[in-house]
Amino acid sequence: MAFTVAIDGPAAAGKGTISKAVAAHFGFAHLDTGLLYRATGARMLEGSDPVDAARALRPEDLQRDGLRRADVAEAASQVAANPDVRAALLAFQRRFARLGDGAVLDGRDIGTVICPEAEVKLFVTAAPEIRARRRYDELVDSGAETSFQDVLADVRARDARDMGRADAPLRPAGDAVEIDTSDLSIDQAVARAVAVIAAARASG
Ligand code: DC
Repeated sequence: MAFTVAIDGPAAAGKGTISKAVAAHFGFAHLDTGLLYRATGARMLEGSDPVDAARALRPEDLQRDGLRRADVAEAASQVAANPDVRAALLAFQRRFARLGDGAVLDGRDIGTVICPEAEVKLFVTAAPEIRARRRYDELVDSGAETSFQDVLADVRARDARDMGRADAPLRPAGDAVEIDTSDLSIDQAVARAVAVIAAARASG
């Protein structure tokens, strides 16, 4: 019987790192659902209709180069506000959630819309300044030239868009367990997530 872990939260809170680590720990499949919106956004930048692009999306599209680029992130955020795009991507995500022994999906609306029946729901957050600092350090390490203030403004703008949209806004499910990573190391945050999932598996 498939076991689904839904992990939601804002950009740069540590969701991706935690999701990969817990999937490896339990031997579950992992889907970064942001990639679906990024791949759709990339197609839009190439001139495709976003709804057609979302309907035609194939698993190999998630492996494309360039999906982490800033212009693709911006396009992803635009297409993510389109209810027809979201509806087109729903079946892909629900199928994935029931694959194999278990699956981890991370995104913004996994616990609230995509998998409301998930066995475990986590909401991973951190203060905006902390998330901006982490993203800034990553960008500087990868050779990008930017300022902390620009990155912080970008984090706040994305939060406002993700939380403010009418369709499937970012918010914790009522039964989600919140993990605030502001004062946690990666290892501590992963350990907390593993403990919540292990407890749910033991009781289910
Ligand atoms: O997590 P990310 O930065 O890769 O997400 C890219 C965009 O897609 C972001 O603006 C939020 C949106 N998104 C969404 O609306 N729902 C999801 N389940 C995942 C991402």
